[in-house]
Amino acid sequence: MGLDVSEAMLQRAVRDNADDRRVAYVRGSALDVPFADGAFDTVACLAALYLIPAPRIAVREICRVTKPGGRVALFTSLQTPLTSVLGSSTAERVSGFRWFGKDEITGWLREYGLVDVQQTISGQGQFVTARKPQ
Ligand SMILES: C[S@@+](CC[C@H](N)C(=O)[O-])C[C@H]1O[C@@H](n2cnc3c(N)ncnc32)[C@H](O)[C@@H]1O
Repeated sequence: MGLDVSEAMLQRAVRDNADDRRVAYVRGSALDVPFADGAFDTVACLAALYLIPAPRIAVREICRVTKPGGRVALFTSLQTPLTSVLGSSTAERVSGFRWFGKDEITGWLREYGLVDVQQTISGQGQFVTARKPQ
């Protein structure tokens, strides 16, 4: 199941994955995910949290729809000395793009009860995985 708020992006995803009958797409907001608690074995959110206006709520929703024993995988931005320079750009202010502090995403995951939180840093990006306890 793929979720996105943008119809154009969903149309593109459907086109690109037309041969894959295992996947379906739903239009909706990451801030109010239209699925029941514990609906998914694994929830991945790649390259989107930094564009979402209330990313902490999105992380809470991700944790909510992950089933007990399930896993979460996130890829997003990371604040570094370089991003302090980039962060002052007009482009960032206009686009709403956000750089996350090193412990921000991992801290939210722990706060929402996830365990085995692991963070891999690569330049200005971070890949974070975690598990929801049974
Ligand atoms: C850079 S794209 C990444 C798309 C996809 N995850 C991928 O890896 O190809 C970021 C996506 O986040 C979506 N997005 C932004 N805010 C959102 C929200 N509140 N709820 C759901 N999707 C959102 C945008 O529409 C856009 O498609």
